Amino acid sequence: MSNIGTAPNPVRAAIVGSGPSGFYAAEALLASEQTVLVDMFERLPSPFGLVRSGVAPDHPKLKQPIRVYQQIAESPRFRFLGNVTVGRDLSVEELKGCYHVVVFACGAETDRTLGISGEHLAGSHAATEFVGWYNGHPDYRDLVFDLSHETAVVIGQGNVAVDVCRILCKTADELRHTDIAGYALEILAQSRIRDVYMIGRRGPAQAKFTHPELRELGELADCDPILAPHDLELNRASREELADRRNRAISKSYEVLQAFTARPAPTRHRRCHIQFLKSPTELKGEKKLERVVLARNRLEGEPSRQVACETGEVEELACGVLFRSIGYRGVAIPGVPFDDHRGVFPNQDGRIVDGQNVVPGLYVTGWIKRGPTGIIGTNREDSVATVNSLLADLPNLPAGPKTGADGLIALLQSRAVRVVSYADWQKIDAAEVRRGETAGKPREKFARVEEMLEVLGVCRT
Ligand SMILES: Cc1cc2nc3c(=O)[nH]c(=O)nc-3n(C[C@H](O)[C@H](O)[C@H](O)COP(=O)(O)OP(=O)(O)OC[C@H]3O[C@@H](n4cnc5c(N)ncnc54)[C@H](O)[C@@H]3O)c2cc1C
Ligand SMILES: NC(=O)c1ccc[n+]([C@@H]2O[C@H](COP(=O)([O-])OP(=O)(O)OC[C@H]3O[C@@H](n4cnc5c(N)ncnc54)[C@H](OP(=O)(O)O)[C@@H]3O)[C@@H](O)[C@H]2O)c1
Repeated sequence: MSNIGTAPNPVRAAIVGSGPSGFYAAEALLASEQTVLVDMFERLPSPFGLVRSGVAPDHPKLKQPIRVYQQIAESPRFRFLGNVTVGRDLSVEELKGCYHVVVFACGAETDRTLGISGEHLAGSHAATEFVGWYNGHPDYRDLVFDLSHETAVVIGQGNVAVDVCRILCKTADELRHTDIAGYALEILAQSRIRDVYMIGRRGPAQAKFTHPELRELGELADCDPILAPHDLELNRASREELADRRNRAISKSYEVLQAFTARPAPTRHRRCHIQFLKSPTELKGEKKLERVVLARNRLEGEPSRQVACETGEVEELACGVLFRSIGYRGVAIPGVPFDDHRGVFPNQDGRIVDGQNVVPGLYVTGWIKRGPTGIIGTNREDSVATVNSLLADLPNLPAGPKTGADGLIALLQSRAVRVVSYADWQKIDAAEVRRGETAGKPREKFARVEEMLEVLGVCRT
């Protein structure tokens, strides 16, 4: 038998998920000295994960990595199998039967919860849902957001929270020529929200947002950022944190916040209030959200390890809608070990482990490997590291030839799964771009799977 990784016996690799980490894993596999054939499985008909359905519509430049992914997809050794959910349409065991190695790159698809009373009242949402909705993700297409109240609250101070605030604070004209979903733009255009509160449990030296994103909140057409100067007061440990050269990026955010406090009195129709040292402890309302109870905090602990502790002071803020933007969370796939506490697939250097034991042939990368942090580029080095572990393991894996997706097509057909190829996706992509042209948008996304399949001539059942 020929050695694995040669043309007669290529390494058959399955990648589950087509976001940045999946594409960077494919890139690293295809660039290796071994002969590798890559099949990428994606549960949606559309590729690119959060670059399509997370990155804000008014940040088109940040979607440019898609061009690199398009080049990777053009490799003759790459195959895209969209509209296939691993764990539902195909079991992990079935994948293992057809591939030498499986790399999970399935992201963090759900959200963390606050665990407070009233969290499930109507009007209380996860940022995950709102972001998916305005970005045309089919899972969130039919959600309803009531923007008829004047006050919205966003809990958390990461870049997702900033995205949510900015989308709520922008005028329809500022969003009209982006790839925001048309149905979302209609609702946002009628929004009566005037005050948006972005609330963090810790202080300005601990906020997770980055300065270019923060600065944009001061550049909106009809919204003023509001910040009380006393909110920027720092305790000794926070001053030390800011003075640490390793925290240069945080000091730049702090400078942006200082500049916000020095602005003239607000004159615009909307206001984005940035508040620190407050934690929601209860959401109140009869049938729907009416108020959020906020506990005032102080910071305790050494520099870079400060935690928020309640002071005993509380206040209530009337609001009609609240978004918790406190981080995403991975979802388990049957047949793969799952760390329920962290919401990731447990691993050592990208090798999936069950307890202390490595599970041969199973690997992980991206948000489902390290948790929901890091920008698009962070996933590149992460995927390279995982692929390095995989390539080092190859001599020890069973070397018999595998079929790859050829061994699964009949099975998927028997389960009535319409596999979407990369050529199919390109037709859907072109149709979206055409739909956007009349409205002066880069594209008008299809936000229902059936609509995407209709482009391919698949009739509704
Ligand atoms: C709202 C938001 C905005 C962001 N904006 C930016 C930004 O502007 N700039 C930046 O650099 N970074 C941004 N990020 C971070 C960036 O998006 C992430 O670092 C990156 O997308 C993580 O890549 P991933 O491949 O691990 O996961 P994802 O991008 O989530 O990709 C996972 C893919 O796996 C698929 N999948 C899941 N389960 C299955 C299954 N069972 N079977 C088959 N397929 C499956 C999903 O459909 C998805 O396509 C943003 C993140 C969020 C949440
Ligand atoms: N334009 C961009 O580049 C862009 C845009 C969007 C997202 N991203 C990236 O995507 C990643 C994810 O972003 P994210 O905003 O979801 O996560 P994040 O950066 O980790 O921010 C999460 C925020 O939630 C807070 N939080 C967590 N648990 C909380 C709780 N129980 N109560 C109150 N607050 C709580 C955190 O505060 P503590 O610090 O106190 O825990 C933090 O302020 C980040 O790496 C981000 O940079 C980038």
